[in-house]
Amino acid sequence: MSSKIVTVGSCMIDFTCFSPRLPKSGETIIGNRYEIKYGGKGANQCIAASKLGAATAIIASVRLGSDIYGQEYLKIFKEKNIDAYVQIQSNHHSGIAHITVAKNGENSIVIVLGSNALMTVNHVDSAANVIKNAAVLLCQFEIPLEITLHALKIFKGHGLSIVNGSPATKDVHPDLWKLCDIFCVNETEVSSNWTEVITGVQLQGSSSIQQAVVKLLDKGCNTVIITLGEQGAVYASQEDRTVKKVGTTRVQPVDTTGAGDAFLGAFAYFKAYHPTLSMGECVRRACVVATESVLKFGTHASFPDRSSLSPDLFA
Ligand code: RIB
Ligand code: NA
Repeated sequence: MSSKIVTVGSCMIDFTCFSPRLPKSGETIIGNRYEIKYGGKGANQCIAASKLGAATAIIASVRLGSDIYGQEYLKIFKEKNIDAYVQIQSNHHSGIAHITVAKNGENSIVIVLGSNALMTVNHVDSAANVIKNAAVLLCQFEIPLEITLHALKIFKGHGLSIVNGSPATKDVHPDLWKLCDIFCVNETEVSSNWTEVITGVQLQGSSSIQQAVVKLLDKGCNTVIITLGEQGAVYASQEDRTVKKVGTTRVQPVDTTGAGDAFLGAFAYFKAYHPTLSMGECVRRACVVATESVLKFGTHASFPDRSSLSPDLFA
């Protein structure tokens, strides 16, 4: 069976310190706990969709060397029945993320792309048929932009493309906007880099969100979603440029790492498997899944299994 959702994206090793709060610049604080887990926005989104029952594939670049990380990642894909088309690197370290999670669940992350930066156009070409057969192509900005662009070009005319503009990147190629059906970005990304660099709008209040969304639509993508953390998400499209807001249930988060990935994996799932649902309903259901994920620590382990969710979500 071909994979309905295909991710061309990253694998990272997440080194996470759990700490009372996030440190300030120049400050050292004592944390409570440390974990090494598997993350990366590409793999996370793919796994989030697969935990909901999607048939998924990932096209990625991983290091296999003297450490166990790359090998472990391949095992994870196998266990989770994810078709992995992995370019093996030997001369560069694995992609890594240094994460701090505060007691209130907020996080800060520094990533170093490592082997993710070495993915080649040829590797993507070798999986061209997998990409073309997908219903949804899901991309992020943790691999080189030209690779993402290449995947989007291969996929053009074959299904729905979703680009998660995270982490915020300055040099988005103008063609990318036109090749993505849905562009989704997180509020914090918009308010830091994206505002100045992409939209020129500082996100304060709903009128500025509207302005930022219009600027993104002007760049050529069909639909824009901005996720707003505990406040849910907004979306708008070329057909209706007025932003619509979707709320979510307020919870006490323990770890927000990967909440955006839970949202995107779930959103891709609903688009692929419930294509008749409205945009608003897909966003609402994806928010439910993302909200579940912040109640548990980590990324993969915090993404809900289909069986743990209300059947209404899949009706
Ligand atoms: O979105 C969360 C992810 O961002 C983490 O798993 C980390 O690897 C970084 O890529
Ligand atoms: Na989580």
